[in-house]
Amino acid sequence: MPNCSTGSRPRRSPRKRSPPDEPARPPPPPTPAVALIDRFQEIRTLPHIVARLTQLVNDQESTLQDFEAVIRLDPALVARLLTVVNSAWCGLKRRVDSISRAVALLGTKNLRNIAITDAVQGMLRHRTGSAAFSPVRLWLHSAASGICGKMIAERIFAINGDDAYLCGILHDIGLIVELETSEPLFFDLMERLVDGGPTIVDLEREVFATDHGEIGALLAREWRIAEPVAAAIADHHRTDLVVAPQSAAGILQISEYLVHQLGYGVKDGLSASLAPELAAHIQASVEEYRAVAEDLPAEMERTRQVYGA
Ligand SMILES: [Fe+2]
Ligand SMILES: [Fe+2]
Repeated sequence: MPNCSTGSRPRRSPRKRSPPDEPARPPPPPTPAVALIDRFQEIRTLPHIVARLTQLVNDQESTLQDFEAVIRLDPALVARLLTVVNSAWCGLKRRVDSISRAVALLGTKNLRNIAITDAVQGMLRHRTGSAAFSPVRLWLHSAASGICGKMIAERIFAINGDDAYLCGILHDIGLIVELETSEPLFFDLMERLVDGGPTIVDLEREVFATDHGEIGALLAREWRIAEPVAAAIADHHRTDLVVAPQSAAGILQISEYLVHQLGYGVKDGLSASLAPELAAHIQASVEEYRAVAEDLPAEMERTRQVYGA
């Protein structure tokens, strides 16, 4: 018997419904890295100005005036920018007193990087350390990695060094998260970090079920920092990966290795390793790298003058 109700319209299948008594599924628990970041952000917030400057860097339509308007809200940052622009870095004959000229001279990514450097130093400035960990050393290590990375990018690869600088200054921010959220565990971990023993990543996996590369990359992505920078942070201890020397990850691994050799490691007495292809690249350009190494102490001195550490 024909079913006159079918016509040309397809019959709709009955909608499946959950039984009314089925409880809603709870969200999955956060990963250990996310849990640490959540706790960190309860204690510390990224300065609003850094978030705003990062938004502007990511916005193709933003103008120098937009940057200037944000920077004007923070007198300490204005003072820092003017110090940077008038330092020997810029080699200017006439003193710069106007924010708009400082903004134009420094460039937008550089401005954002100065604000991030301020934030990182601010997180470490007032912390006390332990016998096995010095917040000042971590700050100098981060600053040296940023400066060295920028020099390598600009002098050896002839590319803009702003992302390389950002990689260096932020690469160990995961350690700051561990320090802020779990100080006794972190100090104990640093005590156990000795040459020939488990690596820092092995110890972190044991203690925190994550490591500072994973934490730092998650934080960088949350702050909307460019993906190559976040990926380089994630992998900065992965000497087993094949990375191109001129990539963000390659420059970060080389600069971290060099600053370690030059006495800017996070802790004394630890040896550093480098992926074979990155070591071969240094060998192939050894004179250029020697010049970078020779100039690093003077650049660090300028950083000390600007940031007061
Ligand atoms: Fe490091
Ligand atoms: Fe590290």
